[in-house]
Formats: sequence, C-alpha cells, structure tokens
Amino acid sequence: MTRLTDQAHELIAAVLQPGETAIDATAGNGHDTLFLCQTVGQTGKVFALDIQQAALDQAAELLQQAGISNGELICCDHSSLGNIIPETYLERIGTIMFNLGYLPGGDHCQITKTDSTLAAIEAALLLLRPGGILTVLAYPGHPGGDSESQAVAERFSQLETSGYESEVIHARSESTSAPRLFVVKKRGRV
Ligand SMILES: C[S@@+](CC[C@H](N)C(=O)[O-])C[C@H]1O[C@@H](n2cnc3c(N)ncnc32)[C@H](O)[C@@H]1O
Repeated sequence: MTRLTDQAHELIAAVLQPGETAIDATAGNGHDTLFLCQTVGQTGKVFALDIQQAALDQAAELLQQAGISNGELICCDHSSLGNIIPETYLERIGTIMFNLGYLPGGDHCQITKTDSTLAAIEAALLLLRPGGILTVLAYPGHPGGDSESQAVAERFSQLETSGYESEVIHARSESTSAPRLFVVKKRGRV
C-alpha cells in the first residue's frame, strides 16, 4: 500500500501549480519541503516552518544538495502562520502541508501540540486559495497524538457546510492508533 506521505504528495501534485506558493508547516528534515519546491518550480515559492533550528539546518542541506533555491526556512511555531507570509505571496497559496508529531531520530519532546496545531490549521484554512489543498498527516499512536488527531478530526468535520470539503485516508487499517491523512480542499477556482 502507498505510504500516506506519498499519497499526500500525489494529491498535492494534482492541485499545486508551477509559480504558486506552498507552505510546509512542519518542515522537519525537509522531504516535504523539497517536494513542494520542485512542484512549484523556480518561479514559485515555498515557506517551511519548524520550531527546531536543527531540523531546518537538515532541511537546508537537503535543498542545497538538490540545487533548490526557492525555499525559505523559518524557525517559528506554526501557530504564527497567519502573520509571517509576506503580502506579495498571499494571493496564490495552493498548498499547505502538516506532518504532525516529532522529528524521526530527533528530540521526541519537540512534538506538535493540539492548541498550536489548531491555531495553525485555522490560519491555513484562510490562507489557502480557492481550489487549494491542505493536508494534515496525524499520528494518534504517539503520546499526545491521540487527542491532537481527534481535535483535528473534529475541526474538519465542521467544514462541510463552510466552503471546504474534507476526507480522511487511513493507513493500514482504521485502527484508532493508525496514522491518518486529513485532506481538505477549499471550494472554488482561482
Ligand atoms: C514528523 S516531523 C516533519 C517531517 C517533515 N515534514 C519531513 O518531510 O521530513 C514534525 C516536525 O514538526 C516540528 N514541530 C513540532 N511542533 C511544531 C510547531 N508548533 N510549529 C512548527 N513545527 C513544529 C518538529 O520539530 C518536527 O520537525
């Protein structure tokens, strides 16, 4: 079965256009950032956020090795997402990605938390252009990940009547602890 990270990339690739702006709200080692940079191309722009400078250093190295220069790495909490994207990029934000939890191989205390995740998602919903896609990969099996994942599910279940459509893709099974990918599309066209 295709990994949820790959499924997120496939869904995004069908929506995100060259020249657009994308946001990686949890940059980590930069694999998603690299994918977004390649998808929007040299005329596009990617903002990648993480609370850990060490993660961003890894991400910077990955981008550099790939010869990518259209990614901007910002060390901050993603709850400030609504305030950090320069105005000139606000019009064409085609994708915002979250990969929750902690950095594999990193400090497991540096983990996403429900309150800031929900604040960041709220900002992301507003920033997304019509027709744009928001993906949130959640891990209910991690400590704290259960309540975080549930809070995200509850928020997205309220979206249907408000200009968005959402679905949940489960990993191997619908077990309560299995990872899941929330996919939200903003209705309308650019
Ligand atoms: C699962 S990893 C992301 C993996 C990454 N997308 C990749 O492709 O390698 C989750 C990341 O979220 C970061 N993080 C945790 N809390 C955060 C917050 N409040 N704001 C931004 N990043 C956060 C962690 O430092 C960690 O690097």
